[in-house]
Amino acid sequence: MGAFFMRYHDTTITLRLQLYAVMLLALAPYLFPSAACAQEPAEPVCITCHSTLPEKFSQPVKLWRGSIHAENGIYCNGCHGGDPNDAANAMNPARGFLGVPTETAIPAFCGRCHVGVLKDYLASAHGRKLGKGGPTCVTCHSNHHVVKASLALINEQSCSRCHSFERARVIRAAMQETEAMIVAIDGRISGFKKTGTDTEKLEKELFAVRNQFHTLFHSVDVELVKNDSAQIQADLRKIQVVLDGLDTEHQRRMIAGAAAVSIMLMIALVLHLLRKTYD
Ligand code: HEC
Ligand code: HEC
Ligand code: HEC
Ligand code: HEC
Ligand code: HEC
Repeated sequence: MGAFFMRYHDTTITLRLQLYAVMLLALAPYLFPSAACAQEPAEPVCITCHSTLPEKFSQPVKLWRGSIHAENGIYCNGCHGGDPNDAANAMNPARGFLGVPTETAIPAFCGRCHVGVLKDYLASAHGRKLGKGGPTCVTCHSNHHVVKASLALINEQSCSRCHSFERARVIRAAMQETEAMIVAIDGRISGFKKTGTDTEKLEKELFAVRNQFHTLFHSVDVELVKNDSAQIQADLRKIQVVLDGLDTEHQRRMIAGAAAVSIMLMIALVLHLLRKTYD
């Protein structure tokens, strides 16, 4: 750089270089995003320390890494409380550390965030048997490797631990039709999103209906599931109607686009022929 300046003493060039340098500095955070992330919060001390501990205390970190909670920025302290920024006092109850919940405390522990699910669960045959043979959230979802919920959670291995699989099978069958509708709509919305259509509103609507539906399971009440499914399917059909409208519009635009292209080709051809005749 020094040699460069020695050779070109022309002041306009140095001035221009200075201007470029200033512009580059101003743009740096956008051009080199990694440098701009310096202020991003560091990983909680819970994770740094627990990663180095013996199996029993480091295992949760490994399991948690692959979870939907990790994906959504819910760290150890999201569930267990404590201070994620101060290693010396991280597990101090005075800093909100809750420790490990006992079996009967688990639903309330998870339910701080999953309020609707907790309500349905507590009112259900499962919730009423909490501490007396009923399953807790962790029985079905696990504690650290919690993944996106789906009907796959209702399976023989998990549901025949305490009673026959038959009742589980009945409730799963009642939910399958609605689930299939949700999956199909989700696929159609993603398709439109790829073509650049604004799908935010539809996504929000589906998200709300989906949540309502996935919570429903926790009642483990076949009659309730059947009744509520009817309403949920009606809501889903409203989204389908909007998607059908988008489909038609899309087709119309494709036809219009094809027509415009053919007209343009035709004009080009005519011009070409005209030029040939005059040449
Ligand atoms: C400096 C190291 C260190 C930090 C930081 C740390 N822990 Fe721990 N943690 C330990 C050790 C060691 C144990 C096992 C011995 C014990 O219970 O004190 C433990 C145990 C635990 C347990 C089990 C307690 C029990 O009663 O069995 C939980 C839950 C836990 N930690 C959560 C957290 C959370 C949440 C954070 C962050 C807010 C955190 N830890 C930060 C070292 C740490
Ligand atoms: C989604 C909530 C949730 C998150 C996030 C979470 N834990 Fe836990 N953890 C639990 C529950 C619930 C239990 C009690 C499980 C049980 O009784 O089966 C538990 C138990 C533990 C235990 C006791 C040992 C064991 O395996 O039973 C330790 C240690 C622990 N967690 C550490 C951590 C650390 C470290 C993190 C962060 C990497 C973390 N937890 C994140 C919910 C969570
Ligand atoms: C600090 C708040 C918080 C706590 C406590 C918490 N979660 Fe979550 N959980 C979330 C967030 C945020 C998401 C991701 C957004 C979503 O899907 O709702 C999530 C997602 C989930 C999902 C997937 C939902 C889906 O859409 O498929 C399940 C299942 C789940 N959590 C179960 C649990 C269980 C079991 C516990 C207790 C061991 C627990 N959560 C504790 C915040 C929390
Ligand atoms: C008997 C097993 C079982 C128990 C107990 C259970 N769940 Fe679920 N959970 C499921 C199944 C199955 C689904 C998926 C239902 C579906 O796909 O429609 C689900 C779905 C979810 C979802 C996603 C629904 C949504 O609103 O996005 C969350 C969150 C969740 N459970 C949290 C919890 C919490 C918190 C508890 C304890 C209060 C709990 N679950 C207890 C089996 C269970
Ligand atoms: C930890 C034991 C346990 C597990 C695991 C378990 N259940 Fe249950 N379930 C119970 C108990 C206890 C009852 C209530 C007493 C009874 O009816 O036997 C019950 C009742 C039910 C009922 C009847 C509800 C009613 O109102 O009559 C259904 C449906 C059900 N469970 C479905 C499931 C499904 C689906 C799964 C798997 C995702 C599952 N259960 C896993 C213990 C369990």
